[in-house]
Amino acid sequence: CPSPALGVGPDYRPANEKPTATVSRQVKNQPNVHILPQTPQLIALLTMIRDENTQRADFIFYSNRIIRLLVEEGLNHLPVVPHTVTSPVGKDYTGVRFEGKICGVSIMRAGESMEQGLRECCRSVRIGKILIQRNEETSLPKLFYEKLPPDIKDRWVLLLDPMLATGGSAIMAVEVLKGKGVPEERILFLNLIASPEGIANFLEKVPKVRVITAFVDQGLNDKNYIVPGLGDFGDRFYTL
Ligand code: PRP
Ligand code: URA
Repeated sequence: CPSPALGVGPDYRPANEKPTATVSRQVKNQPNVHILPQTPQLIALLTMIRDENTQRADFIFYSNRIIRLLVEEGLNHLPVVPHTVTSPVGKDYTGVRFEGKICGVSIMRAGESMEQGLRECCRSVRIGKILIQRNEETSLPKLFYEKLPPDIKDRWVLLLDPMLATGGSAIMAVEVLKGKGVPEERILFLNLIASPEGIANFLEKVPKVRVITAFVDQGLNDKNYIVPGLGDFGDRFYTL
């Protein structure tokens, strides 16, 4: 169904003065798809990066804020174990701590933009790289290069790519990881904007990978760009 226009904005405004915005499509009956809460903050950040008039410095700044939200949500999916600490006033606090090893894997080039956000949350995290480029004519992905931590099969993998269009690149990256022994269940795919077609294709091929995205958009155009999308993420972050 088309994205509904929901009321967003501060509560102090009367209902008839509240701005409306298009929020993410929902993906029904897919427990492995997690869409960030469509808060006014997130919608405002997405509005900035979708705007064709937003220049590179602002594009980077606002993208980074969304990436940070995605990383924080991704980390919520990692297992924790009970952990009790004693506070400076001598009282115990029953909490948790992360268990297990993680690594990031970026799909180059655009996915590299998400490495910094991951590093800000996970100091000295190991990061692998997979260079996959989409053919501009056919939209088919081609694998050029991969360099991954040697013990990656024992780690949780945060796979990084801001755009999920046809899904071809992300599926290819997951296949590379599976070829190294990483089970689908231990891969979290962090993504800014996905198309419904890309999500469906991805889940059909690699159903156990968890997708954490900020927004599921309307669809794809005849060049397999996401619409309304934001254009070419890599160009806007690195070169335009
Ligand atoms: C973009 C994007 C994804 C891919 C998505 O990368 O970052 O990797 O396209 O499209 P798909 O879902 O149809 O495969 P691109 O190959 O354009 O390279 P870039 O990272 O250098 O911009
Ligand atoms: N890659 C992008 O950067 N944007 C799209 O819309 C599709 C692929």
